[in-house]
Amino acid sequence: MTAATIPGLDQTPTTHQSLLAWVRQVAELTTPAEVVWCDGSDEEWRTITGKLVTAGTFVRLRQKPNSFWCASDPSDVARVEDRTFICSTYEADAGPTNNWMDPIDMKVIMTEHYRGSMAGRTMYVIPFCMGPLTAEKPMLGVEITDSEYVVASMHIMTRMGSKALALFGDDAEFVRCLHSVGAPLKPGQKDVPWPCDQTKYISQFPEERMVWSYGSGYGGNALLGKKCYSLRIASVIGREEGWLAEHMLILKLTSPEQKVHYIAAAFPSACGKTNLAMLEPAIPGWKVETLGDDIAWLRFGEDGRLYAVNPENGFFGVAPGTGWKTNPNAMRTLYTGNSIFTNVALTDDGDVWWEGYSEVPPDRLTTWKREHWTLASDELTSHPNSRYCTPIAQCPITAPEWDDPNGVPISAIFFGGRRATTIPLVTESRDWQHGVFLGATLSSETTAAATGQVGVVRRDPMAMLPFIGYHAGDYFQHWIDTGKHADATKLPKIFYVNWFRRDADGRFLWPGFSENARVLKWAIERIEGTAPAVDTPIGWVPTTGALDMKGLDTPVEDIEAVLEVDLDEWRTEIPLIEEWFTTIGDKLPTPLHDELEALKHRLA
Ligand code: GDP
Ligand code: PGA
Ligand code: MN
Repeated sequence: MTAATIPGLDQTPTTHQSLLAWVRQVAELTTPAEVVWCDGSDEEWRTITGKLVTAGTFVRLRQKPNSFWCASDPSDVARVEDRTFICSTYEADAGPTNNWMDPIDMKVIMTEHYRGSMAGRTMYVIPFCMGPLTAEKPMLGVEITDSEYVVASMHIMTRMGSKALALFGDDAEFVRCLHSVGAPLKPGQKDVPWPCDQTKYISQFPEERMVWSYGSGYGGNALLGKKCYSLRIASVIGREEGWLAEHMLILKLTSPEQKVHYIAAAFPSACGKTNLAMLEPAIPGWKVETLGDDIAWLRFGEDGRLYAVNPENGFFGVAPGTGWKTNPNAMRTLYTGNSIFTNVALTDDGDVWWEGYSEVPPDRLTTWKREHWTLASDELTSHPNSRYCTPIAQCPITAPEWDDPNGVPISAIFFGGRRATTIPLVTESRDWQHGVFLGATLSSETTAAATGQVGVVRRDPMAMLPFIGYHAGDYFQHWIDTGKHADATKLPKIFYVNWFRRDADGRFLWPGFSENARVLKWAIERIEGTAPAVDTPIGWVPTTGALDMKGLDTPVEDIEAVLEVDLDEWRTEIPLIEEWFTTIGDKLPTPLHDELEALKHRLA
């Protein structure tokens, strides 16, 4: 089929010539059966979700309005870090923490994968905007995809369609995002519920502001506005323009005295961002409101403070462990409807279920693998990385200013990971540079959010290991420079938290979830200069008495254990940090080297 005959290709709702040329070029390469420009309307949502139901990809839920159950191919359930590439011209610009390939070589390889890859399918053109549409410089993108699942998910996760396209004019800059599941259909060939290819590539071309994704339908690999654009590409743009694109939630904390503080927190995937963002505080009088659960763009305001904007429009949250006890606000959001559930279990009466959804599972379920399940089964009903996708605006505690293009001024930055030992519940950094050191040496056990072994401790700097679009050493330098450009008194204070410390039997020492509000409170009181702390070799740590423990039934021994700075554990940590810094090589900023030497000295 020649491009001129592809239905829909000439029905172009824009006069943006380079966008039109790119769409035509992709259609000629991928040869879809038709081209559809997405307008983001409710009618489009109904058409797309209807198509997905007919295809057997979606099952319409009867117990939650306008919501759908979906099971992926069992091989396509998480981000694929070993198939993720930063294709900068020079390998040195991608650095030691990224897979690199020459952009020309990558384009040659992927072009052959894309050739004819949309045959028999519809090619959707999704104009979108990351962050508020009212921004002075809206952050635009276009995703071309052959996946209806992606179109439906982008309806929730981004501001997309006509309202985004209206901002393109004739020549606005935008990030080109190309996605194909890599499963062309021959004439008459029956489709499968979750088309994908065993071969996968998630390629970022930072210099061209471009993303090419092939072979996967999973969120982090296929919803290209999310990790690919808003972290990998945006981190490169931010470095050039003097701002930060970070893997952070944003929350608003109001004290009983009605003082407001905004907090941003970076934890690796599946380490508690979404849960903290929607926290229902266990301590009376304190209130949390949500602005974002995964990504923050941090820019200096005219007053010299750092302001955060959430580029996303929805939550793509880990389902298991989400329940009325752990995260009631997520549950309220999901009960409102308008959501997509992927790789959780389906009940006989048309509802979803997952481990932790309720205390007692229904007698019978259909698992995420589409298998029959009863109470006698010992298999998990849901994949550990199963997800819900739901609009941020319908969360009952979303802060009204979440859509403010100016963002919100950040008082504190939290870094955190999942560590069974060593890392205390909370540590306050001495200053910005020490805080950057804490972030740069952040470590966490791997989780099911990415393919590969689970539970292995690795360094995950600022929770950005899989998302820094350039050299990690340059990234650390950018963080240090960010602190230098600012008035130190206006910078957020940096804290390091660990909700996941365990005792010798493997039991969590800290109850977590709503009780984490006690740590937020201590941090705010540190900022305001009212809470006590002990000066330890690793930073300021609360005394047992400094944390508000009213109403907490955790034994005091556990609290002592979770706050303990165990010098022997820290001495065994040092070689691991040294090894990590050696990996970074010559580009490791001298101040971080100095911080390590100072830590060693304090531990000696
Ligand atoms: P995200 O991927 O960083 O947004 O992480 P989530 O908030 O979705 O949480 C990932 C997993 O960690 C879920 O299974 C949660 O139930 C669990 N989790 C989140 N917060 C806590 C906590 O404070 N303590 C414990 N023990 N588990 C938590
Ligand atoms: P998250 O990432 O676990 O940080 O929410 C989602 C993803 O895998 O893209
Ligand atoms: Mn999350």
